[in-house]
Amino acid sequence: MCGIFAYTGDKKAQPILLEGLQSLEYRGYDSAGIFMPGSPLVKTPGAVTELRKRVHFTSDAKSGIAHLRWATHGEPTEVNAHPHADCTGDVYVAHNGIIENFRELKAELEKRNHTFKSQTDTEILAHLIEEGVVAGKSFEDAVIDTLQQVRGTYGLLISYAKEPGTVITARMGSPVVLGLGDGENFIASDATPILRHTKEVVFLNDGDIAIITPTSHRVRTLTNSEIDRPAEHVDWDTEEASKGGYPHFMLKEIHEAPEVLENAIRGRLIAKEGRAKLGGIESVADTLADLDRLIITACGTAYYAGLLGEYLIEDLGGIPVEVELASEFRYRKPIIRKGTAVLAVTQSGETLDTLEAIREGKRRGALTLGVVNTVGSTIARETDAGVYNHAGPEIGVASTKAFVSQVAVLSLVALFLGRSRGLSEDEGRKIVQGLQELPELARKVLKLSETIRKIALKYKDARDFLFIGRRYSYPVALEGALKLKEISYVHAEGYGAGEMKHGPLAMIDTKFPTVAIVPQDSVYEKTLSNMIEIQARKGPLIAIATEGDERVKEVANDVIYIPKTIEQLSPVLSGIAVQLFAYHFAAEKGLNVDRPRNLAKSVTVE
Ligand code: AGP
Ligand code: GLU
Repeated sequence: MCGIFAYTGDKKAQPILLEGLQSLEYRGYDSAGIFMPGSPLVKTPGAVTELRKRVHFTSDAKSGIAHLRWATHGEPTEVNAHPHADCTGDVYVAHNGIIENFRELKAELEKRNHTFKSQTDTEILAHLIEEGVVAGKSFEDAVIDTLQQVRGTYGLLISYAKEPGTVITARMGSPVVLGLGDGENFIASDATPILRHTKEVVFLNDGDIAIITPTSHRVRTLTNSEIDRPAEHVDWDTEEASKGGYPHFMLKEIHEAPEVLENAIRGRLIAKEGRAKLGGIESVADTLADLDRLIITACGTAYYAGLLGEYLIEDLGGIPVEVELASEFRYRKPIIRKGTAVLAVTQSGETLDTLEAIREGKRRGALTLGVVNTVGSTIARETDAGVYNHAGPEIGVASTKAFVSQVAVLSLVALFLGRSRGLSEDEGRKIVQGLQELPELARKVLKLSETIRKIALKYKDARDFLFIGRRYSYPVALEGALKLKEISYVHAEGYGAGEMKHGPLAMIDTKFPTVAIVPQDSVYEKTLSNMIEIQARKGPLIAIATEGDERVKEVANDVIYIPKTIEQLSPVLSGIAVQLFAYHFAAEKGLNVDRPRNLAKSVTVE
């Protein structure tokens, strides 16, 4: 999820590794570390500049591994930073991703007298590899045996003190790229830190394990076969490489939606019982059992995700929910009694309004919960319990993958609450199945990017947009309007479709397009009627509709067809569609969609 970089060759590794980490900083991280055989392990919370200060020696090592951490398990502290060592101090591991079954494996290793230093999931890998090499297996066989035991995602670097020139890497769900030089080789999360050294790269596939020395690279698989992965010549510059070949981080992050959804649900669904397993709120499960009111509080995009949380938790959890803008909630005199919880939704975990709203709720005696993306952030630490998104760092100022993740996690929370409140196993299984199918459906929506770009281009001269929707599509309308206005600076307004006659219809004319989110759901007919009201006033209509819906073509000028899913989860798919619409509309204008004017990624001021 963050950054790995390794070198083995004929030069001193230290400066190359530190420079490589520096060029991966754009990926966002909370701590860093470096290991070179024969030199001390150095790790630090904070920036690479901190790490440079702590590496107050000059190592002669010609190989090493380095890591930028985006914490998922264990606070961002020195001891939790990577690389992690085994008991012998011979095996060092740096990891991007999440090991889903680490708890079970850690318990077994502790029974076999392994001692752990960190709270991370990663550390178990070092001890499992240790067992292999101590039992006489080769370094690479010990690694392959280890990876055959783990479930989850990884982009791995492994260094073994007894084979200092060799670095082993492995990919499952987190990207790994090899750089092939002359008498030296590189490994990284993306090509950015490699391209200044070589343009010959090998993109590993999931299940690949690569054994790298200064003059060779061999690729094996989890099933023990050797395979050939040809090198490619890439002409990207460093900037392009950091965006994975996408023109903007925002587009890259929109395209991360499938992995983000997989990470949100990973290890959290008990399919056969139609239940969600959320370790982060198990500790307050008893209090949640008596919950009779929930206040969701957030800002911006997170607030719109919170509105979806309201529908989800009322529908599935059977609990009264209200959603409050954090900047308002903190100045109200909210009536909070026993049985009330306040839930913050926040990507950064540092938004001041949301933080103060949580503090207000706590002052008034509420149980405080969080749906947070940034591990160890202030809101994550100050709430009583919560669920992490595991969406990885979001670089673009406009929130995209975080929104998708927030809706998925709120669905899990709703399922968690609902199944202890009368939601049947069968209904629960429908939600579980919907969540399991969602990543693939999201991939289908992402394939519409070029179609959506062409539609956005048709309306490039419009200066005003309306976004409308009902029920689960209403918050998507609000989010679509926010996305468009914050990156294209064009006026856009989200509205409940049922409100058209109460005012907005007056604005409609041929120059005022409306994006209507109208999946075939429980309010489809009503939304279609609202669209017909607009059509009668010659307002241009862009519909986001369900595949196969022929009727909508009679009303809309353009239709973006998204796959069918259960009503509660359709906002994830229509949300991706409105993100793509906003992105292409703004990108076509040549605007800086990653860093829109006047905005900051995390609003830590009032
Ligand atoms: C949305 O695209 C904006 N970046 C902004 O509204 C953001 O959602 C809001 O500031 C909340 O941020 P948070 O999720 O980090 O708390
Ligand atoms: N899950 C690991 C940890 O929390 C790796 C996180 C990352 O991808 O940086 O340390």
